[in-house]
Amino acid sequence: MQLRNVALNIIRLITIKMKLPPFDNFPNISYGNISLRQIQNSDMNDLMDISCYNAIPASTMQEAIEMQARIDKDYMDGNSIHWGIVDNQTNKLVGTCGYYRGLNNGEGELGCVLLPRYRGQGFMTPAMLLAIDFGINVIGLKRIWAVTTTQNDKAIHLLKRLHFIKTADLQDDEIEFEYRPDIKSENA
Ligand SMILES: CC(C)(COP(=O)(O)OP(=O)(O)OC[C@H]1O[C@@H](n2cnc3c(N)ncnc32)[C@H](O)[C@@H]1OP(=O)(O)O)[C@@H](O)C(=O)NCCC(=O)NCCS
Repeated sequence: MQLRNVALNIIRLITIKMKLPPFDNFPNISYGNISLRQIQNSDMNDLMDISCYNAIPASTMQEAIEMQARIDKDYMDGNSIHWGIVDNQTNKLVGTCGYYRGLNNGEGELGCVLLPRYRGQGFMTPAMLLAIDFGINVIGLKRIWAVTTTQNDKAIHLLKRLHFIKTADLQDDEIEFEYRPDIKSENA
């Protein structure tokens, strides 16, 4: 009985420290030239080309809208948070990023995608830094990871630049990276 109480107290303490979605107000956050903000239905035209759910891309606008509705439900259920990335100089959406699973275990799988025309211009690095800071300091995540493929050089480069290190080889040529700023990674 005593052990059960100790375990319950530990769970309570962990829960108190974590702040899971949904938030009273959707967290729109900004730093320098980049903002992360909630995605509206009116954004779907801009984001159609990069809309996906569970790694399956939308092939029609209707599918993209339905996927966004599922993402919104995941947010309301406390499982995910998905932001649109805005270039503050032009006020245009350049991509999306967010945490897509693991939050209820104090962990977060971080994912991101830029619209093709905004790649190679330095938008994603600060966007991911904002998301990482939010994950650790607001949600209270203890672990942040990301999954990509061995061929995705741009994603691997991005993750290493952000102090992720490779932690596992997965099936289908996928690899897992974990945010470890305490360890110096190669080729960052
Ligand atoms: C992965 C992905 C987000 C990386 O995008 P990216 O444009 O390379 O990353 P950033 O926006 O941070 O830009 C950094 C690049 O812009 C270059 N750059 C050009 N102008 C710049 C500027 N003014 N400031 C900073 N960087 C600039 C940098 O040199 C860097 O290029 P490098 O990686 O060749 O050194 C993008 O390729 C993508 O959307 N891929 C499809 C989805 C995907 O694979 N997601 C990953 C899941 S983990």
